[in-house]
Amino acid sequence: AEAINLAVIPGDGIGPEVIAEARKVLRAALPASVALTETEYPFSARHYLETGEVLSDDSLDALATHDAILLGAVGGDPNDPRLAGGILERGLLLKLRFAFDHYINLRPSKLWPSASSPLKHPGDIDFVVVREGTEGLYTGNGGVVRAGTPHEIATEVSVNTAYGVERTVRYAFELARTRRKKLTLVHKKNVLVNAGLMWNRIVDEVAAEYPDVEVNYLHIDAVTIFFVTDPQRFDVIVTDNIFGDIITDLAGAVTGGIGLAASGNLNPEGAFPSMFEPVHGSAPDIAGTGKADPTAAILSTALLLRHFGHDEAADRVEAACEADMRMRDGNARSTSEIGDAILAQLQA
Ligand code: NAD
Ligand code: IPM
Ligand code: MN
Repeated sequence: AEAINLAVIPGDGIGPEVIAEARKVLRAALPASVALTETEYPFSARHYLETGEVLSDDSLDALATHDAILLGAVGGDPNDPRLAGGILERGLLLKLRFAFDHYINLRPSKLWPSASSPLKHPGDIDFVVVREGTEGLYTGNGGVVRAGTPHEIATEVSVNTAYGVERTVRYAFELARTRRKKLTLVHKKNVLVNAGLMWNRIVDEVAAEYPDVEVNYLHIDAVTIFFVTDPQRFDVIVTDNIFGDIITDLAGAVTGGIGLAASGNLNPEGAFPSMFEPVHGSAPDIAGTGKADPTAAILSTALLLRHFGHDEAADRVEAACEADMRMRDGNARSTSEIGDAILAQLQA
């Protein structure tokens, strides 16, 4: 793109802290020929408590006019009863993913050469989780009967459509073709047979069109073993919404920490703006202390750059982050010190 009209939603907690650093690096990384316009939107727990708005339809329309969205994180004070029940998470984050048909939640996991994994023998970790982003347990289907009684029954229904699964699986096969040509379907088809067997059948069907891609299957529980004991075996993982959520926090932890994990919520056809955000949340436990690592947010801007075809700029951002990791000596640095150091690497 010759111009990028970006919406920025810093959000809550450490969101604004890491987004400030990401914006600095993004501006510096963009080729001079690309005009970047940034419009900041206040949507957050704070905005909700002040105005009553989580994300109105008018706001959604305004966001839809942008080319992409850069998001920090949402989620306010976990002890505030006015925010209970995931008001922000569902009303803002999931609303955006659903409204803008972000059916691919792309979460690369790479052990950068100088990042430090808590694993003793991590090997070369370099895989991508293709997490379905608009279905599964996240659709809000289900309910409660006999609420508050000893006979209460709560159900959450996982919705999986052949259409939604197939487009996700196809994306994953295409991605595998550009990489090491290995695809792992992750599910729990020994128990969740309705959805699990459908995912499995669709993977098998699409696989026939990709004879060059080696396909295998793992149950979700076993995946948590191999992420710790043998993570280098993975290349592309395709999985549903909730399994993808859980394993990408674990993937972040084994590749040097959640503060390094980037993600993109993609609408690959470009009918709607895609949204880039770190995998982590608003981290209320460290918000305001300057302890947040902005690298995940900065690496998310590399995914944004790649989305618009600015591969060289994306490579430079990643190289700057990697160079900064190499400089880490165990001494604590603040969020802005890390951001400034990455910016300096970029400009070196
Ligand atoms: P979290 O990711 O915010 O924090 C988990 C742990 O990781 C905390 O100890 C935190 O301090 C640490 N951490 C997170 N990001 C870090 C960073 N950049 N640098 C250093 N340490 C970091 O998850 P949580 O505590 O489960 O959730 C907090 C809030 O965020 C909740 O309201 C949750 O719903 C929300 N949330 C939002 C998003 C999002 O907006 N995309 C994602 C996840 C969680
Ligand atoms: C994430 C978060 C969200 C999710 C929550 C906050 C709704 O955990 O982006 O990983 O579950 O997708
Ligand atoms: Mn998560």
